[in-house]
Amino acid sequence: MKKNVKNNVHWVGKTDWELRQFHGDEYSTNNGSTYNSYLIQEEKTVLIDTVWMPHAQEFVDNLAGEIDLDSIDYIIANHGEVDHSGALPELMKHIPNTPIYCTAHAVKSLKGQYHCDWNFQVVKTGDTLDIGNGKSLVFVSMQMLHWPDSMATYLTTDNILFSNDAFGQHYANDMLFNDLVDQCDLMRECIKYYANILTPFNPILRKKLDEVIGLNLTVDMIATSHGVIWRDNPMQIVEKYLQWANDYQENQITIIYDTMWGGTKDLANKIAQGITSQDHDVQVKIYNISKSDQNDVITEVFKSKAVLIGSPTMGNTILHSIAGFMHLMKQMKFKGKKASSFGCYGWSGGSVKVLNTLLADAGFEVMDQGFKNQWNPDEQQLLDAIDFGKQIAKA
Ligand code: FEO
Repeated sequence: MKKNVKNNVHWVGKTDWELRQFHGDEYSTNNGSTYNSYLIQEEKTVLIDTVWMPHAQEFVDNLAGEIDLDSIDYIIANHGEVDHSGALPELMKHIPNTPIYCTAHAVKSLKGQYHCDWNFQVVKTGDTLDIGNGKSLVFVSMQMLHWPDSMATYLTTDNILFSNDAFGQHYANDMLFNDLVDQCDLMRECIKYYANILTPFNPILRKKLDEVIGLNLTVDMIATSHGVIWRDNPMQIVEKYLQWANDYQENQITIIYDTMWGGTKDLANKIAQGITSQDHDVQVKIYNISKSDQNDVITEVFKSKAVLIGSPTMGNTILHSIAGFMHLMKQMKFKGKKASSFGCYGWSGGSVKVLNTLLADAGFEVMDQGFKNQWNPDEQQLLDAIDFGKQIAKA
């Protein structure tokens, strides 16, 4: 269903209420998502992005219900990833010669995925496209935000920045605009999206945000490719990104563990007790990684100044649940966070040593040797775990 965004700009995307996993199973989308596509009807008719392939037929049918597909003069492909380009093969069956404006990298991406030699028109930052009625589109490379081919498109006069993935969230809604949705849900999905998708690109993002702000564009709306359109104080999300891109942290320590027979879980709770008894202001959160949403826990790590990782020793090393999560944390390239480790063992031990090596390799500042405990902790050992927590709080 077509929805008005502003003047002659309409949303023609897809709201995916059912989506629960994204990027395969790499990202949990507990609130669904949207694939935002936009139709601009000035003297020229322009389509910005499409939707994910499973919804391609529905998208093209809906679009054909709104306009004569032959009237589309230009297609803008801000990004080649399949959640935005997935309906192009179906659409291009109807209008095979329509020019597709995109970056040089996007040509590679689209050709590589769909093996079609469409009428690509390569653009770079500062290039413009006149669409009539005194309006034009200005293209801005968003390289590495989050793929090499990403770009944004700015519509003059209406002052809308079509930012694609940047500033988005996986948040299904029918309200379209940021001021009409639940603000807690919205901001939770925004920070989760940033933490899990954009954190690895922090240094690039800092430069890119400066570059985009330096263009001095008047921005009345930021029309993302996922979730809401920012029309109420659209710069609020840019300001959040500036904050988040600078190795963001709150006064929080997150404890993440897995456990076989409960000993490492007991250590986690006692260490938390030690931290909070030493420092009443710090927020401590505890997660059993096997029972938690990994992307939500990554968001908690993103907000933390320190993390403690716990695993019992199994086969001289750590549990695979924790090993997988360590890999995910390394992928995020967190900077400026402290870390330590803990775990129970029965015979040889070794988990704490392995964890410290992995934490250092993932870019964390390892604070100490960690806390290891043979067999199930007795009363004295639980007191020792509390003391360890106090030392962590002091550090
Ligand atoms: Fe929403 Fe990078 O795709």
